[in-house]
Amino acid sequence: MDSSLMTDSIQRARKLVSGLKAKLGRVPTACVVTFGCQMNARDSEKLTGILIQAGFLIVEEESADFVIYNTCTVRDNANQRVYGRLGYVGGLKKKNPHMKIALCGCMMQEPTVIEKIKKTYRFVDLVFGTHNLYKFPEYLVSCLSQDGQIIDIWDKPDEIEENLPTVRKYPFKSGVNIMFGCNNFCTYCIVPYVRGRERSREPKEIIKECERLVSEGVTEVMLLGQNVNSYGRGLENPISFPELLKEVEKIEGIKRIRFMTSHPKDLSDELIETIKNSDKICRHIHLPLQSGSSKILKAMNRCYDKERYLEVAEKIRREIPDVSITTDIIVGFPGETPEDVDETIDVIRRVEYDNAFTFIYSKRTGTPAASMENQVPEEESHKQFDRVLAEVQKYAKKQSSRFEGRVMEALVEEVNENDSSLVTGRLSNNIIVHFPGSADMVGKYVNVKLNECKGFYYLGEAVCE
Ligand code: 5AD
Ligand code: SF4
Repeated sequence: MDSSLMTDSIQRARKLVSGLKAKLGRVPTACVVTFGCQMNARDSEKLTGILIQAGFLIVEEESADFVIYNTCTVRDNANQRVYGRLGYVGGLKKKNPHMKIALCGCMMQEPTVIEKIKKTYRFVDLVFGTHNLYKFPEYLVSCLSQDGQIIDIWDKPDEIEENLPTVRKYPFKSGVNIMFGCNNFCTYCIVPYVRGRERSREPKEIIKECERLVSEGVTEVMLLGQNVNSYGRGLENPISFPELLKEVEKIEGIKRIRFMTSHPKDLSDELIETIKNSDKICRHIHLPLQSGSSKILKAMNRCYDKERYLEVAEKIRREIPDVSITTDIIVGFPGETPEDVDETIDVIRRVEYDNAFTFIYSKRTGTPAASMENQVPEEESHKQFDRVLAEVQKYAKKQSSRFEGRVMEALVEEVNENDSSLVTGRLSNNIIVHFPGSADMVGKYVNVKLNECKGFYYLGEAVCE
C-alpha cells in the first residue's frame, strides 16, 4: 500500500478517536492480546504502533475501549483459548456497548473459524487475516465509524508492506521479519495454509530497517522467518542466509544478532562457519527435531532422517563449543509407537538439548496428517509425552549448569518482577541470569559472574572489568 494512503487512514482514525475522547471524557484505551510465536509478537508491535498513532492509550486490561486478539492456530488449544477470551470480553461488551472487539492473525485464515464467528460471535466488530494486516488503519476507520461486523480475509498476500509504524516492547531489542510464509508443508502443520508461500524481503530493506532500529537505540535484533535457512531463494538476486547475516553484522551499533527458526534440512556448513567466526551472532540455535524416528520424520515430510539430524547437531556442538541448542518435539503424531518415542529420547540423550518445547500432536483440519488413519489415542500421547518431558528436563538442567562459575556478558532486559533489588539479563546463549542491580542498567551489557544455577536460570553478580 502507498504510505500516503496509510497516513491518510491514520489521520482519519485520529479524528474518530478524538471524537470518542470527547464523548467519553477521557483518552480511549486499546488492548492488544497476542497468542503464538515471535512472528505474531512482531505483528502485535505493528498493531500497537498503529493504535498509538491513532490516539489510543495502550493498556493491558481487556476492558479497554478497543480490544484486538492476534491469534495463533498452530495447535487447537490456542484456538480454544481465543474462544474462551471472546466469551469473557463479550460479557464486558454487554455492559459497555461502545466497546470494539477485533480479531486477526493465523486462526482467521481458517474458513471454519470465520463461519463460527459469523454465527456465534456476532458482537465481534472487525476480523482480518495474516495477509492484510497492513490494512489495519483502514479497517480501524471503518470499524470506528460504523456498526456491524467487518470481515476481510484474503487467501493470498499481495505485497510486503515496509513502512508500518511499530512500538517495541523493549527499546533495545527488536524482531525483524526477513521472510514470511513457509513452503515446507510438514504434514501436521497448518502454517503454510494460513501464512501462505515463502516470500523473502529484499536484503536492502532488511538492512535499512536494522539501521533505523539502531538509530532508535536497538542493539539486539532477532531475524524472523519460519525457515530462515532458505532465506533469499526466491529473490531476483538470490542471496543466502549466511550472506544476509554477514551484511547485518556489518551494521555498526548492532551488538547481538539472533535468528529463528532453522529447519535442519537446510542448515549449511556455511551457516555454522558464519556463526563460529562472528562476535555478534548469538550462541543459540533453535533446531526443531519434531521426532527422532526416521519413519515418523518421513511421514511428517521433514526431509531429513535421524542420522542427518544428529550429524548436523553434532557438528554444531563440535564447531561452536558454548552454543546452546534448543528444539521442538511433537509427541503422538499418527502412527507413532512407543519404539518411535524411544528414538526421540535417544536423540535427546545424544544432543543433550539446552531446552526443548514438547507438544502433544494436535490435529489440524486441512493438513495431510489430519486424515491419516492411525491417530494415536490421547491417553497414550499423554503417557509418551511425560516420558519425553522427563528426559528433556534432565538434560536441560545438566546443560544450563555447565556455565556455573563463568563470567559472561548479559544484556539487562528488566528489573526483576519479584525482587526490585535484582535485574534480569539474557546471555548470548539465551540463558537468563538474575543479579543485584538497578533500573539504570536496563538496556546495557554487563559482565556477570554466574554463581548458582537454579535449573533454568542463574543467580549471579555483576563484575567490573
Ligand atoms: N501439533 C502439535 N505441535 C505442532 N507444531 C506445529 N504444528 C503442530 C501440531 N499440529 C509445533 C512444531 C513447531 C512448533 C512451532 O509447533 O513443533 O516447531
Ligand atoms: Fe510448519 Fe514445517 Fe513450515 Fe515449520 S517448517 S512452519 S513446522 S510447515
